[in-house]
Order: sequence, then C-alpha cells, then structure tokens
Amino acid sequence: MQASIEEIHSTALSEIETAQDAETLKALATRYLGRKGRLTQFLRDIAKLPPQERPAAGRQANTVKRELEKRFAEALAQAENHAAAHGEDAIDVSLPGRPARVGSLHPVTQVNQQICGIFSKLGFDIAEGPEVETDYYNFEALNFPPHHPARDMQDTFFVSDGIVLRTHTSPLQVRVMEKTAPPVKTIAPGKVYRCDSDLTHTPMFHQVEGLLVDEGISFGDLKGTLTAFIHRFFDERIRLRFRPSFFPFTEPSAEVDILCVICRGSGCRVCSHTGWLEILGAGMVHPAVFENVGYDTSRYTGFAFGVGVERLAMLKHGIDDIRRFFESDMRFLSQF
Ligand code: FA5
Repeated sequence: MQASIEEIHSTALSEIETAQDAETLKALATRYLGRKGRLTQFLRDIAKLPPQERPAAGRQANTVKRELEKRFAEALAQAENHAAAHGEDAIDVSLPGRPARVGSLHPVTQVNQQICGIFSKLGFDIAEGPEVETDYYNFEALNFPPHHPARDMQDTFFVSDGIVLRTHTSPLQVRVMEKTAPPVKTIAPGKVYRCDSDLTHTPMFHQVEGLLVDEGISFGDLKGTLTAFIHRFFDERIRLRFRPSFFPFTEPSAEVDILCVICRGSGCRVCSHTGWLEILGAGMVHPAVFENVGYDTSRYTGFAFGVGVERLAMLKHGIDDIRRFFESDMRFLSQF
C-alpha cells in the first residue's frame, strides 16, 4: 500500500511534466483523479486495510491528492496561456491595429445637401412636409381635378381611400402658402414615391421643390434662378435647355434638360437616344393654386420647380443606371 501511493504520486508528477497540451493534461487528471481514477480507487481501497493502518494511509493519500490537484491546475493554466500566446488563435500584439473605417454620406444625400446649400445662398428658406399625403394636397389643391388624366402622369401608390404616398414634393407649395403670407421664397427637399422603375426611374426618389412668390415675378426670374442654380451645381459650360411642358399647377410650364453626360448628346439608352436627360419640371404658379390658398392673384405671381435629386447625381458623377444608388453596394458607394 505504502509503495503504491508513492508510485501513483511519482508517475502522475512525471506524466504531468511531459504532457504537451491542455487536452493531454485533462485526460491525465481523469486517469488519476476521476471517478474511476487510480488515486480515487486507492482511497476506496483504504477501507480494506486493517483499522490501525487506515488513518496514516488516508492522510498520506489525501495529501497526495491535494498536491496532484494543485499541479494539474497549474499545468493546465500554463498550457492554456501558452496556446493563447503561440497557438493558431494567438494574438500578435506587435501587429498594427485595424484602422477604423471612416464612412461617408450617401451620394444622393451629398447632392441633396449641395442643392439645398446653393438655394440657401440664393436666400431660400427650407421647409419639410409629410411623405404620406392626402389626395387634397398631392392632387386637388394643385389643380388636378378628380379623374383628370394628368393624375396618370404620376403612378401613384395609394395607402387608403384619399391617402397616398406623395408622388412629388409639390404638396409643399400648398402647405407653405397656407401658413405664410407672400412674399415666399422656400425650397422643400424630400422623398417621393411612384410605381416606376428603369434606368432613370426608381419607385422612391428625392426631389427638391422650389417656390418663389412676390409682386412682379416673371418667367424670366424662373429662367434666371434655375440657370444660376445649374451653373453653380455643374459649371458654367454645362449645356441645358428649357422645353415647353404641362403641369396642372403651373402655366406656362417647362422642363429643363441637361446634355446627357454618358453619350455627350449623341444618344444612348440612358437618355432614350434623345441626347438630353430631364432634371426638373417648373413653371409659373397657376392662379387656381393661389386661389386655393387665398393669395390675391391680381397682386402676386410666382414660380415653382421640382428637381430630381438622383438625376442630378447621375449627371454629376456619370452614373448610367439610377438604381445603383439603392443597391447598397459598398464598392459603388465608397467611391463618393
Ligand atoms: C413633378 O414631379 C412636378 N411636381 C415638378 C414641378 C414642380 C413642376 C413645380 C412645376 C412646378 P416630374 O414628374 O417631371 O414633375 O418630376 C420632376 C423630376 O423628378 C423629373 O424631372 C426627374 O428629374 C425626377 N423624376 C421623376 N420621376 C422619377 C423617378 N421615378 N425616379 C427618379 N427621378 C424621377
């Protein structure tokens, strides 16, 4: 018995010494201290000794047990530290840190801010309004009578009876004029929604509405303001044209096109082979709209416009498909 506990003790210590890793040590600990381990078995066998030998044998075996437990714990901690410092998952503290990625504003947000910045410098205030809009503000107050074919120009998403996702930012014209007496000089940026999708159309896009009302405002003021804006946004050499158009809430109405930056005017699929890309609608505020908000039509005239933000971003950066702005592809977005 005496020799056996010493033999267990010394072989256990030498096996701990030569164990290479934590897994081997855990297996060894089970072999000696587990339920069926050698030392555990030895402790059980003490009961079979003559009564006078049991206390001494028990003391000795318990001392060995405590020491082996301590050695296993120390050797295991050492093996684990070694693995953390040198193993596969080791942390090399001398490596340079990973740089934190600096984000940037989405190109559409950047262009939106540039547009607002230019008009702010021209003295325009900024207003905002709801994206879920009533039929009244989106259509009726803007001189679209019920069932008027012009409503079909805007492929509307209906929320419920009489409630729509606004199809343009023009409802802000009415909301601003209802709250403000002339003169008015306001822009209103925001998201708008239409059931529409191709190279130059997305179902959600951004517009910036503009409204200027005062005594003696003419179509010349409209042309001058928009030309100044476009020259500041692009540069003075940009080719643009005013083209007659129709909106129920402006008379006369126009659209502004920029020479297509993709084909430089020779015609491509982005500009539908016209050489030009439409960026905004505009016109002189229709007297019917002024009447809806109680403005004196004999005293005041005004102009309004609605710019497509994504279209300007496409032209500024030479993007040939508007849908790229909304694919969340970091390879694309990180270029801006
Ligand atoms: C309007 O929405 C008018 N409310 C603009 C207006 C305001 C006219 C004030 C007169 C006075 P239009 O549907 O043409 O007009 O849209 C204006 C601009 O939004 C277009 O020139 C184009 O640049 C952009 N646009 C229109 N539909 C889409 C679309 N689905 N995706 C991206 N941009 C679009």
